[in-house]
Amino acid sequence: MAGPAVVTASRKPRSELPASIRLWPYALAMRVAFVGKGGAGKSSLAGTFARVLADTGERVLALDSDPMPGLAFALGVDRSDEGLPDEAVQGYDDNGRRRYRLRDGLTGTAAVEQYAVVGTNGVRFLQLGKARGQRWNNAPQHFGFQHVLDDLPGDGWSIVGDLPGGTRQPFMTWGRYAQTFLVVVEPTPASMLTGRRLARLATMPQAPRVVAVANKIRERGDIDRVREGTGLSVIGAVPFDRELVVADRLAVAVLDHDPEGLTVTAVRSLVDVLRTGMEPS
Ligand SMILES: Nc1ncnc2c1ncn2[C@@H]1O[C@H](COP(=O)(O)OP(=O)(O)OP(=O)(O)O)[C@@H](O)[C@H]1O
Ligand SMILES: [Mg+2]
Repeated sequence: MAGPAVVTASRKPRSELPASIRLWPYALAMRVAFVGKGGAGKSSLAGTFARVLADTGERVLALDSDPMPGLAFALGVDRSDEGLPDEAVQGYDDNGRRRYRLRDGLTGTAAVEQYAVVGTNGVRFLQLGKARGQRWNNAPQHFGFQHVLDDLPGDGWSIVGDLPGGTRQPFMTWGRYAQTFLVVVEPTPASMLTGRRLARLATMPQAPRVVAVANKIRERGDIDRVREGTGLSVIGAVPFDRELVVADRLAVAVLDHDPEGLTVTAVRSLVDVLRTGMEPS
């Protein structure tokens, strides 16, 4: 394919944009969560998306709720797979059941300030982290992370979430901070079927917007396939990108490996679509 498959878009007059977009600069802050089938490209695109936002001077918090490593590589931050440290969490007894919460006096926002890893251009990175011990117990980190989700940094912060593959976490409200769910979909039957299921996130109580990002696109018809296969509006399309595969092998963020390449260009277009309220034609 000659160039990035970018969805053409028509610009709406500013007066027709939602108030949240007109009220620049706060409107620049956005809260998105990447979901989709395992291996669809969520972490690659979420990490690039967060870095693109940070490159334009935004304050960005990238959240990885997948206990398997992924987003750290795509962001290019220190590749620790540790979640919140033990000192951030305290246990308590709830009618005979052991529960955990952030330690007394520690808010979610303060936990981000203290424990998030700081990456390029100040991007903050917090992750659920790996399960530990013989029984792979990560209950303290699990509950602590959930409390952070309920008290994220507010005005002016963009939140970019990367959820594990499938439907479980999304429907268990692990992406409850998101205004927009970006369903990453490959033009394959299994990926599109997962996308079709995830489309039902729009019926969740907080009724977020749910749209698709077509990934690993090899021909123009792939975008139509994803639209028809998921029933979702496709607001971004990322070509199959050999340089992304190379970046993965080198354990380098694609934004550092190939900053003007297919993936970064397509993610920049996606950011523009979300920022300006441009609707795909
Ligand atoms: N546009 C693309 N072109 C080529 N390869 C891609 C593209 N997007 C992702 N990949 C490759 O697909 C694989 C899975 O990508 P990634 O880890 O981002 O997916 P994921 O959805 O986060 O997976 P998981 O569900 O395991 O967390 C990686 O090898 C990555 O390099
Ligand atoms: Mg991933």
